[in-house]
This record gives sequence, C-alpha cells and structure tokens, in this order.
Amino acid sequence: MWRFPVKYNHSVRLHFGEGVMLKSEYLGRREFLGIAAGTVLAARVGSSETVAVGEPFNFAVIADPHCAEAPKTGLEAYGNGVEKFLRCFERMKELPKEEQPDFALVAGDIHPEALAPHLDKITLPLHVVAGNHEGSAETRGLLRAMFPQDFGSGDAVRDYYAFTYKGIRFIAVCDAGAGGDHIGHFSSELIEPHGQCDWLEKELRGPEPRKVLFAHIPPALDDVERNMYLGRNDSRWFLEQVRQTEPEMLFFGHLHHPTEENRIGNTRSVNVRSCCWNFQNAPVGFLLVRVGTESMETREIITGTCADKA
Ligand SMILES: [Fe+2]
Repeated sequence: MWRFPVKYNHSVRLHFGEGVMLKSEYLGRREFLGIAAGTVLAARVGSSETVAVGEPFNFAVIADPHCAEAPKTGLEAYGNGVEKFLRCFERMKELPKEEQPDFALVAGDIHPEALAPHLDKITLPLHVVAGNHEGSAETRGLLRAMFPQDFGSGDAVRDYYAFTYKGIRFIAVCDAGAGGDHIGHFSSELIEPHGQCDWLEKELRGPEPRKVLFAHIPPALDDVERNMYLGRNDSRWFLEQVRQTEPEMLFFGHLHHPTEENRIGNTRSVNVRSCCWNFQNAPVGFLLVRVGTESMETREIITGTCADKA
C-alpha cells in the first residue's frame, strides 16, 4: 500500500479498469508525475484503486450527553442534560468559520426520549452510536428511529454502520448490549444484526487509507478484566484488530473522566469527557478534530466548569 502525504484541496475517487478516467486527465502533469514517483497522494492499489485527497475539515466528538438528567450539583448554571448538549452546538457556532465542524459523532448514552423533542434545534448532522443507557429494546428502537439514515429501518436495521466523508472512512461500532451492562461487548441479543465482528474485520481492512472508529465503551489496554471497559476477550480481539489494521484514530465515551489519549500500536485512541458531568467535578465539554491532509489534530472545547472549581 502506498501511504504518502496529501497535498490537494479537493476529493477525487478514481476507478481504473472501468473505462473511467486516467489520473493524467484528472490532474495536472506535475501532480501525476508526483503520484508516479510515489511522493504525493495517499493511495491504495487494487483492482479498484482509490485515491483519497483530503480537503481539510473539522468534526466534533461529543460523549455521554445524558439528555434526560436533571441539573448536576455545581453545574446548575448550565441546565439539564439536553441543555448542556445543545450548548455544545451553540459553542460550535461561535467558532471561527474555519474551525466549525461539518458534523458531530456522538459516542453514546444519549437518552433519545429526552433529545427527540429538541432534535430540530440541532442543524449540524449527527452520527450517533448507542451507549449502555440505550440498553433496552425501547430506547434502542427510539434511537434507531431518530437516525434512520445511519441505522436503517425495518428488516435493514443495524446498530453499527460506516460512511465515507472526504476520503475518510468513519466506522460506528456498537459495543453496548442489553440491560445497561457497563462492560462492553460486540455481540448481544440487542445488537442488530448479528455478525458485527465479521463486519468490523472487513471495515478495518477496507480500501480507504484513513479510518476513524467510534464507539461508547473503550477497550481495556492492560489486559485486565474490570468494570466500565470492554470485556477482557473483546478487548484482546479488538486491540489485535487495531494493531493489524492501524486505523488513524479511535474515540470512546462512557468513562466520565477528563479526556485522555492513548496509543494502540500506531493508532491514537481518545476517551472523551462527557458534555453532561464528569467524576470529581471535572469540567464538561467536547472534542474538536481538525482533519489535515496528513494527520488529525484535536482540541477540547470546555462548555462548563463546576462552581467550586470556577
Ligand atoms: Fe455509559
């Protein structure tokens, strides 16, 4: 696989062997020679060759909005859960235009019943995954119904999905099963359809050179079985997949701790603080991700600080 810096401000996808376009027709001669020399584009060679030329953009990651929760002690000034969630989008609108996100990933524990009446106030596209708070057939069903563009409908309903945006593959994984279990797993009678592990193995090996994965419950990095993380065997399998396939970044919620970043092989893995409440009265906020042509930069936006820490 070629893996080179990207220098273009537009996205192209070239298919070869199908009578479509030659690279030299698409690009200037200098750029084409750059590709030929192996110095310019991120590309992948195969029967259908994909060239991902990333236009820089931003996306947000928001964790654990807990929309149905009442105001928290110390954070009363920011309102209830849904008000704190909406506050994230207000802060995004205040950002300079070049920093505004194109969409937000929401990493679970959403409380869809409390968000539904306010959903029309959010104009930014959302891509969500379920958390353990969406651990009943009713809450999972409501979440699916609110976001049918990702979860599908009817017999085609799915709790995990993927989409490509400006050359980046975004992989939404469901690791929250039935009954509100705080330990994560990839298989559950509530996760539809069965076969998520097979699907994820394929997604991680898909043609896009740059991939982002998000889910609710993070893996345990130290091979220890404990509450609040993926179960030990799910963690082992997942870490092995990540080391083998090297997605660029992973994002998780669930922990309600200040945001922390870890490394899994060459992959950056970020546990994102909640925008509703965090342990030890840590501030609430969300993460802004700037996707550059060669790497991703992250920046936290704090949306509330506990009164005793202000
Ligand atoms: Fe959770």
